[in-house]
Amino acid sequence: MKIDWRLLAIVITLTLIGIVRSAAAAADKPAAASDPNTLASPKSFASIADPQKRSAAYFTELSKVLTHQRCVNCHPSGESPRQGDSRRLHQPLVVRGVDGYGRENMRCGTCHTNANFEQGRIPGNPHWHLAPAEMAWEGKTPSEICRQIKDPKRNGNRSLNDLIEHIGKDSLVGWAWNPGYGRKPAPGTQQQAGELVEAWAKSGAACPQ
Ligand code: HEC
Ligand code: HEC
Repeated sequence: MKIDWRLLAIVITLTLIGIVRSAAAAADKPAAASDPNTLASPKSFASIADPQKRSAAYFTELSKVLTHQRCVNCHPSGESPRQGDSRRLHQPLVVRGVDGYGRENMRCGTCHTNANFEQGRIPGNPHWHLAPAEMAWEGKTPSEICRQIKDPKRNGNRSLNDLIEHIGKDSLVGWAWNPGYGRKPAPGTQQQAGELVEAWAKSGAACPQ
């Protein structure tokens, strides 16, 4: 049998285009929003016509990060940090102290150094300390966190632009995507989280219900 090479080439080309197209469509699908380990791109919300609803939808997607144990363990409702994926109380018991770095005899930096210490399973970062009480997210809904996070009285006097920068670039926040020793990283990437904050801020920073 004689092979028609031209026809074969056309068929292969069309198949490849099909694969690339469906991969691109999959990357854009808000359906990815249901996957707790990934973040949907701002683009994928384009089909939501109502600007308020679209803005709130960006935040709902971002809240997969904000409510993740890697963030919440350092933004707890009480005086002490939490540990691990089960969010158990920090052992040994340490408290926030006046500056977030713990009490005199139990400073965070005694154990947490500038980088993750894999042998000891201890997370690390030069700025390792606990978020102030007014920035607690533990036990709060995405709607509550949304209103809190854009309130300068409860967010360290940050503008929306500061929030884009802080979530998208800050190295302590970034630790959550590189948590070391068997810990589950926060969903998506820090850059993707920053893009969602930016899309949310620039569309009016609406909060989910
Ligand atoms: C005596 C040593 C020690 C001190 C002091 C200490 N930590 Fe830890 N911390 C650890 C160790 C060890 C782990 C890892 C435990 C594990 O995951 O099994 C840890 C884990 C954590 C985690 C969990 C990270 C995660 O998501 O799993 C947080 C949050 C944390 N520490 C915050 C703090 C803060 C804030 C301070 C200061 C107020 C502090 N720690 C003081 C030893 C210490
Ligand atoms: C090791 C502890 C630690 C971890 C982990 C951590 N934070 Fe924070 N966070 C802090 C501290 C401390 C502050 C206060 C710093 C300041 O105001 O300069 C803060 C403040 C913030 C703020 C600004 C205040 C607010 O509540 O609006 C945002 C936003 C924030 N963190 C986001 C995150 C996100 C997102 C994650 C996870 C991806 C995260 N943080 C993980 C300690 C932590």
